Order: sequence, then C-alpha cells, then structure tokens
Amino acid sequence: MLTNHQTAQIDHYAVMGNPIAHSQSPFIHTAFAQQTGQTLQYDAILVGTQSGEFAQAVQAFQAAGGKGLNITVPFKQDAYALAEQCTERAERAGAVNTLWFDEQNRIIGDNTDGVGLVRDLTQNQGYHIAGQRILILGAGGAVRGVLGPILEAAPVQCVIANRTVSKAETLATLFAPLGPVTACAYDDLAGQTYDLIINGTSASLQGQLPPLPEGLLAENGWCYDMMYAATLFVQWAQEKGAAGAYDGLGMLVEQAAESFYQWRGIRPETVPVIQQVREFRLR
Ligand code: ATR
Repeated sequence: MLTNHQTAQIDHYAVMGNPIAHSQSPFIHTAFAQQTGQTLQYDAILVGTQSGEFAQAVQAFQAAGGKGLNITVPFKQDAYALAEQCTERAERAGAVNTLWFDEQNRIIGDNTDGVGLVRDLTQNQGYHIAGQRILILGAGGAVRGVLGPILEAAPVQCVIANRTVSKAETLATLFAPLGPVTACAYDDLAGQTYDLIINGTSASLQGQLPPLPEGLLAENGWCYDMMYAATLFVQWAQEKGAAGAYDGLGMLVEQAAESFYQWRGIRPETVPVIQQVREFRLR
C-alpha cells in the first residue's frame, strides 16, 4: 500500500475516452513500465461528451500533476484542437492520440496510430509496403490518422474506397503531396486487384462488411483490419485465401509503444505484450 507521499512521486498517465471500460491501454502501459523498469501509474478515465467536458478533464489532469495522456474515441479531434503544438504527423492527421505537457506547461499533441500500423505490418509481420498496390477501405478519422505513414512507406498505388466518395476524395487531395493516392466508390473496385487491403471502416462494429467484389485480393495478397479481435473482415480475408490476415491488435500495442517512447524516452519490446493481450485479455 502506497502512502499519499509515495503516490505523489509516481508519474501519472491515463487514457481518456467514452466508452473506456474495455480499453487495453492500462494493461499495455503497465506491462511496458514493468518491462522497462519505469515507475508510473496509468489509469482509464471516462470523460463526458458534453461540450467542454474533454478540455476540462485534460486541464484538471494537468493541474493535478499528470504527465501524459492517450486519447481515444470520440476525442481525438478535440485533442487536436486543444493541443497548443502538434507534431507534423498529428497536424496532417488532424487528430491527436497522445498528449503531454512541456516545460512551459503547453499541451503538446502527437498521433502515433499510423506509425503503429506501419510498424506492426512491417516489423512484426514482415510485410514490405514499398512498391505494393494498397487499397484502404473507409475515409473517416481512423483512416486519416494512418495515411501519412502508409504513403511514406512508398506504395506504388494507394486507393481509398468509401461509401461516401466525397470523404475519400477530400483525403486523397489532402495527402496527395505524400504519394500516389486516389479515391473511388466501392462499385469502382470491380475488376481491380490489390496486394494489401486495409480495413479502416467501422463496419465490423455493426457486424457488416463493406461491399467488396470478387477477385479484389491479388494472389499472395494480404489483409489488415485496423480493429482488433476477430472481425468479419479478417474472416473474409481468410476465406479469400489471403497470404496474411491480421487484426489491429499489433497496431494497438505499437501505437502505445510510440506514445510510451514520446513520454519516457525508452522503447519497450512490443511482441511479448501483443502476445499477453491476445492470450489474457481478449478471451
Ligand atoms: P472512425 O473514427 O472510426 O474512422 P468515422 O469517422 O465515423 O469513424 O468513420 C467511419 C468509416 O467507416 C467511414 O469511412 C464510414 O463510411 P461513410 O463515410 O460512407 O459513412 C465507414 N463505414 C461505417 N459503416 C460502414 C459500413 N457498414 N459499410 C461500409 N463502410 C462503413
């Protein structure tokens, strides 16, 4: 049992979101801290969605001496608006999933989602994005958060397909300076094939799949769902004979590792933590 004095010495971090009860972040960051010998406390904080509640919660956390925050649904855009300074990747994403406070007490924002996805694909799964034809499904905040790092990995083609095509077009225009990215409707996918299909839609949450035509996945093609735990999309990929079919658990742990690195200056090992979450938390 810690005394009040000892608790005050411990660096305090948290994830804020709504809902938050099922967040894996406290488990992941506690595992990182144990592994790297860092002393810190990491909590999950439920924040109300009324106007101004998020900003108040961050300010209260900072005033109490908190060191850093992860931000999840639905506050990533609010966090971007609140941050007084952002990293370049967070600026482009227009969303922030990691906050901390600098020496002048300014709120600094970063977005580690895209780098998390690319690291999981390339380092953990051994996929080479360079020169591949990539299809991204969806054009919401989740996709916007990852497009920069994907394009920086130099695919030969990157197509964003979305039900609401105008949203895909907006993203393609925004990210065009970073690489060969275009937009289309699901109907336009007929007759096309892709080496890697990334699902960034929230369709799985409604037990749905985006309308994908036959023959979409190239021979030896891979699929990646940004959502974690068994999803319909991963099942679809397996049925289509994908050479690799992954959910987003690795991305979740990798984005957390990048946040941890920003806060603590030390990079934890991710593979054992991915295994622990899969084994003990997602049953
Ligand atoms: P997030 O922050 O998770 O990206 P979002 O901004 O609400 O959430 O975006 C959800 C994405 O999933 C959108 O691209 C949405 O398509 P629309 O822009 O056309 O609405 C997509 N999506 C949600 N449900 C879907 C479904 N059943 N089929 C296909 N796409 C779906």
